[in-house]
Amino acid sequence: MHNSHRSVVVLLSGNGSNLQALMDFSSAGNYRVSGVISNRPDAYGLQRAKQSNIPTTVVDHKQYASRDLFDQALCQAINEYGPGLIVLAGFMRILGADFVKRYQGKILNIHPSLLPNYPGTNTHQRVLDAGEKLHGVSVHFVTEELDGGPVIAQESIAIEPIDDAQTLAVKIHEKEHVLYPAVVSLFADGRLSLDGNSAFLDEQLLPVTGQRIDDL
Ligand code: GAR
Repeated sequence: MHNSHRSVVVLLSGNGSNLQALMDFSSAGNYRVSGVISNRPDAYGLQRAKQSNIPTTVVDHKQYASRDLFDQALCQAINEYGPGLIVLAGFMRILGADFVKRYQGKILNIHPSLLPNYPGTNTHQRVLDAGEKLHGVSVHFVTEELDGGPVIAQESIAIEPIDDAQTLAVKIHEKEHVLYPAVVSLFADGRLSLDGNSAFLDEQLLPVTGQRIDDL
């Protein structure tokens, strides 16, 4: 538990069900959530952290005149926890290039689409509107390009005729809650790395197609 990779700070903006999954898994896992930071004072994820006795910090973007100033305050808040990994879990602010460079290779994000398809917001409705048969979730390293960093792992779901944005959100969350803790565990073991715009598991270029994360 003393390896620096194993200390994780989670950044969120809302409900925090992914935080919950990460906390639940961490008791049996090889990492610990050292702190939770929200840009919204009313994010339910903050309550979840408190219930698990995990320290929280609010860095309210509305209190900062520019993204740079917000990013600086965020850096400060993160550094107080001294994490080896920053995990974005429903964190709905765009991070500036300096921030991303500073923590290069140490920021993960989970995104509700099969990237590189459907970056941005409102993904469930957009895949429905496009008549897609397949949807999914991606975990990727964060780089300067929004939702554009190299993918580490993906899980897909079939879209049924009865699905709407809400049913898709439920199905996606189920996948997320398994996939994200698994990827964070791999990072904690020092097995994941970012090199330029490529993600590696050990020496292997990711994503590995057709292979479940549990088999890695
Ligand atoms: C998750 O579905 C996550 O993939 C998405 O927000 C949701 C947060 O849920 N993230 C993004 O859209 C990032 N662009 P949660 O607060 O219950 O974990």
